[in-house]
Amino acid sequence: MVKVKTPKIIIKSRQSRLRHYKAMKFPRGFLWGTATSAHQIEGQNFHNDWWQWEKKSKARLDSGQACNSYNLCKEDIALMKKLNQNAYRFSIEWSRLEPKPGQFDYNAVKHYRELLIELKKNDIAPVVTLHHFTNPDWLAKLGGWTQKSAIFYFCRYVSFITEELGNLASIWVTINEPLVYVTQSYLNGVWPPGKTNYWLAFKAYKNLAAAHRRAYKIIHHCYRRQSWHEPQVGVANNCVSLYSYKIHSLSSWFFILISDFVWNHSFFKISGLRHHDFIGVNYYFHYRLKDFHFRTFRFFTEAYNEHRDMSQVGWEIYPQGMFDVLIDMRKYKRPIYIIENGVATNDEYKRSRYLVAFIKEIYHAILSGVKIKGYFYWSLLDNFEWEKGFAPRFGLVKVNFKKFSRSIKSSGRLYADIAKNNCLSAKELKYLGYQKK
Ligand code: BGC
Repeated sequence: MVKVKTPKIIIKSRQSRLRHYKAMKFPRGFLWGTATSAHQIEGQNFHNDWWQWEKKSKARLDSGQACNSYNLCKEDIALMKKLNQNAYRFSIEWSRLEPKPGQFDYNAVKHYRELLIELKKNDIAPVVTLHHFTNPDWLAKLGGWTQKSAIFYFCRYVSFITEELGNLASIWVTINEPLVYVTQSYLNGVWPPGKTNYWLAFKAYKNLAAAHRRAYKIIHHCYRRQSWHEPQVGVANNCVSLYSYKIHSLSSWFFILISDFVWNHSFFKISGLRHHDFIGVNYYFHYRLKDFHFRTFRFFTEAYNEHRDMSQVGWEIYPQGMFDVLIDMRKYKRPIYIIENGVATNDEYKRSRYLVAFIKEIYHAILSGVKIKGYFYWSLLDNFEWEKGFAPRFGLVKVNFKKFSRSIKSSGRLYADIAKNNCLSAKELKYLGYQKK
């Protein structure tokens, strides 16, 4: 066989491509946003099940005033402007809208309408979430999502809010991370109602899927009736990337297949893909399957056992997994929004480095043909991180929880540059060790 030698000049140019940067341009109109949720930032959400749960918690949780964003939302929008965001994902607090069953509070409607108007004035496209882990307290007392009636109540609220605010928004997330909600609330028991019961978890998951399906139809129907432009309706799915230590093991492969189905695909299957105009991806988790431990229910190895890079909350930070889940979602042939992704850390260099690394993976996924329309960093502000309280710091903006003053962190300034240029440029790629020629 004749061995063909690669000419020196080609080897050299390949090497230089590896070592040197090339600006990574994103498609025109790409959405650069941040994400928040009502209970985590607004403060004083005392009509929901989380507020009641906090009062009972042994960990002395207290969302209290949170970031006081209910009162400071205009200041927050001014911050988004400084970050050069052209989109913002937030949630409407159902318990504020409907503090008692069937009685809607028009002051709360006014608040969210003003927020949407302010976003519009600032050319920031809203992505509105209708359910982000909290429920009105009255719904929880009626049995919450384990009861079929929850579907009816949710749809009544969805129909009300779409009529009221639909002309100001076009992208809707009906439910945030249904499987995370069900796992934490009905299997792990660390969120209200604190259950650890498979049957209840199954019922709640099924009801959430039915609620999404109906909400999808309600929103579309309302827009058609009002002759508003077509809305885009979907969910935010917690997508996990999975890896097996035993690449030749059939049982490991099978286990990964099942986990992939459950976490990444089951909700689309149960609720019906035709009820999703886009695929909403939340990406935080990378799971490594070493050995099965069915007795202890520990399937995946912990990042700290291998001294891997982790966030403050102990999750492995694995940017390449972003690429993997995006490629996995490509098969649905729907536009994709990365609705959440972020790192909890006090180390600003670390946040910046990973921010660039995650965005770089998104860029590669786009080049591989995945239709990605936007990225929303979690989160705009340091905020109330559920059962972990206020300690984990996810924000691009620091919050003083006594005075509620805000200051943009260095990662926030970095994000502002990326959003402004719609590109990962030389300056940013340096975080990953790329050199200038
Ligand atoms: C949730 C957020 C949460 C974030 C970080 C996401 O799963 O939607 O509410 O703060 O993860 O834990």
